Amino acid sequence: MSTTTPAFEGAAIEPGVLPRLLPARPLRTIAGHVEHYGPVPQRTDALILEIERSGLKGHGGAGFPTGVKMQAVAQRRGSSVVVANGTEGEPASAKDKTLLSIAPHLVLDGAVLAGTAVGAREVVVCVDRAFPQIAEIVAAAIDERAARAVDPLPIRMEQAPHRYIAGEESALVAWLNGGDAKPGFVPPRPFEKGVGGRPTLVQNVETLAHVALIARFGAAWFRSLGTKADPGSALVTCTGGFARTGVSEIPLGISMPALFRATGTEISQVQAVLIGGYFGTWLPPDALDSVRLGSASLRTQDASFGCGVLFALPKDRCGLAESAHVTRWLADQNAGQCGPCVNGLDAIARAMAALVKGDRKGDAARHLDRWIDMVKGRGACKLPDGTARFVESSVRVFADEIRRHKRNGPCSACSAAPLFPLPRVGGWR
Ligand SMILES: Cc1cc2nc3c(=O)[nH]c(=O)nc-3n(C[C@H](O)[C@H](O)[C@H](O)COP(=O)(O)O)c2cc1C
Ligand code: SF4
Repeated sequence: MSTTTPAFEGAAIEPGVLPRLLPARPLRTIAGHVEHYGPVPQRTDALILEIERSGLKGHGGAGFPTGVKMQAVAQRRGSSVVVANGTEGEPASAKDKTLLSIAPHLVLDGAVLAGTAVGAREVVVCVDRAFPQIAEIVAAAIDERAARAVDPLPIRMEQAPHRYIAGEESALVAWLNGGDAKPGFVPPRPFEKGVGGRPTLVQNVETLAHVALIARFGAAWFRSLGTKADPGSALVTCTGGFARTGVSEIPLGISMPALFRATGTEISQVQAVLIGGYFGTWLPPDALDSVRLGSASLRTQDASFGCGVLFALPKDRCGLAESAHVTRWLADQNAGQCGPCVNGLDAIARAMAALVKGDRKGDAARHLDRWIDMVKGRGACKLPDGTARFVESSVRVFADEIRRHKRNGPCSACSAAPLFPLPRVGGWR
């Protein structure tokens, strides 16, 4: 496979053009899928190299380079397993469900191609059991491929528990192995010892859909959108106070003003935007003018792209009360395994609730920093770190609200919280 010539001549998608992952109509049959994207590539001998050249990073939250992960699994001895993570437990995110409902075969292509490249013996697609309509679409796509003998590897689907923590890769692997969906104390990591004790490549379903396109059209095609540091496109879920909410595909590196224009929203209409979902960072309006949606630019604001959630906080909402609600939700997601997470996150959530009430004695404000420091890096998974990061940005961006609540008690907007909705599957593009 070359970096300059598309692997598949007659590419349906021109370089530099969107959409890539979200076609105008759902493509749920093999025929419609192949007509739009071209045949499923058969050769995967140079795929890992091509993925490395593409600069593809994971879309499940951590943004880890996909080629490096694939290489690590390919280098292990014995056959491996690919897990396509479509559980999407982040409440504000709808991109994976949308992708699976519109282009299920793209995800399956990517999973099988990645599997063949890393020497896998099977592919397991995990979806959230609370969304049977998505499971139905994925199951039908798998059945059609099996009936037509499309793939060199068997694919099965599993419906994971509807819990945030179940989407964490070691929790998912533990559950697939018959245990509870709780994160494991590492090592071994799934890439060393995962499903059935085999090296396991866990990738987000969006990441795998990009793999399917890079296998068809090559790394240079992938890089024809995005920036050098953040190549390609990404699915985002715009929710909260955007004039148009839903899932869309953007070129990575797009400026926030351009994204706001695409959603028909004025930056002046919002108080702040939470970038990256519940593990994310609030950005105030003055930061939005200059920031771009890519890891390089977001890093300058101590933010990251995460799973592509953008939550706009309207002017008439209380950012402190909304943040306290999210903090409580995050604290309640703990898997009951690590003391600092179980007790520390609960204490942090109580402190946030106390700040909303006014924290007259100043106890909450006094202890919050210490509790945040206490939980960082102290869990088997990133729930404590993600929560700490979210709370730190909340108290930074809503410092004025904290002072106002201290002076006057809860504001009139507090009772309207929470706003954070579960976006519907589908959406604008
Ligand atoms: C608490 C928690 C929840 C997570 N939930 C998801 C999820 O719902 N979907 C997902 O793809 N990754 C989720 N992840 C990240 C996975 O552990 C893993 O990094 C990801 O599936 C790898 O795919 P990627 O490299 O393609 O991003 C979660 C991580 C944590 C710490
Ligand atoms: S850090 Fe929290 S959520 Fe993660 S495994 Fe430990 S108790 Fe469970």
